[in-house]
Amino acid sequence: MTNTRSRAIRVAKPGAIALGMGLGSVLVLGGCRGERSEEPPRQIFPDMDDSPKWKPQSGSDFFVDGRIMRPNVAGTVAWGRSTDPNDPRRAAMLKEDDAFYHGTDGAGAPVAYIPAGAFEAIAPGAADSQAAITAAITRGRQRFDIYCSACHGYQGNGKGEVGVRWSSLPANFHDEKFKDRSVETGTDGHIFQVIRNGLIDQTGAVKMPPYGHAVNEADAWAIVAYVRTLQASWTISLEGMSQEQRSELERSRPPEVIPAAPAAGSPSSGAPATPSPASAPPASTTPAGTPANAGERQ
Ligand code: HEC
Repeated sequence: MTNTRSRAIRVAKPGAIALGMGLGSVLVLGGCRGERSEEPPRQIFPDMDDSPKWKPQSGSDFFVDGRIMRPNVAGTVAWGRSTDPNDPRRAAMLKEDDAFYHGTDGAGAPVAYIPAGAFEAIAPGAADSQAAITAAITRGRQRFDIYCSACHGYQGNGKGEVGVRWSSLPANFHDEKFKDRSVETGTDGHIFQVIRNGLIDQTGAVKMPPYGHAVNEADAWAIVAYVRTLQASWTISLEGMSQEQRSELERSRPPEVIPAAPAAGSPSSGAPATPSPASAPPASTTPAGTPANAGERQ
């Protein structure tokens, strides 16, 4: 008997505890419903609700070098997100083509000319190189007018509406140092880099803000092509044009303001002489891969 009773008691005990817990939790949960409190919420399983996080580029004592972002493991093979080695998006992610993505040659110096790949990127599948060059200049003019003309002026003479009020005077692209490819400032690669990265002087002051956020690599090269076209448009002589180009030019503006030479003063004060890319001489006379090559025309 004693045995049986004690067994019964032993069985009853856990049952009573379970019942008590059940009732208790119903009361606790019931008590939470609709109740407002200034206290932090009760979290039974806080797991991932409040997991710690770090912002990119921030610091942490956790790592010896104090950086929260970890460098690649040594020997990592760059591959990109795609598993297809021929996926064109791979190149865009890996940015291994120095000339196209950074405007530099193997030794890190700015390339003298727009890389041929730029035209492929601007006008994929263009009928011929002439069509690709025209597409680049047309696109470049559009981007230039949007992003550069405010400071550098529609003609690239540095006299844009914002430019004349800017802390330092924007560059005039018709200066010799931006046309002579034997000096760094005259290379296509340098202009590309200034567009993408901006210009910081020796004291660390930002002279020109970077436009890499708004102008991708292909567009930056297109702008370079258009800057070369603008430069050429100031120095080309009527004799250097085809009859067709001449008559188009004569149709589009009064003969007396055709800029035969850059000469004294600013042509911007004279007439709205924005050259038409379609009739711009370099588009029809330069060899494939070297569009709008003003340097060679002087
Ligand atoms: C907010 C005004 C502003 C805008 C917009 C701007 N620039 Fe500039 N840029 C400047 C100024 C100012 C300088 C001259 C800095 C100096 O030499 O003191 C300059 C200089 C340059 C130079 C000469 C760099 C050198 O080595 O001296 C190039 C090339 C250039 N800009 C290209 C561009 C192009 C292309 C765009 C459009 C994508 C552009 N800039 C948009 C203000 C601007």
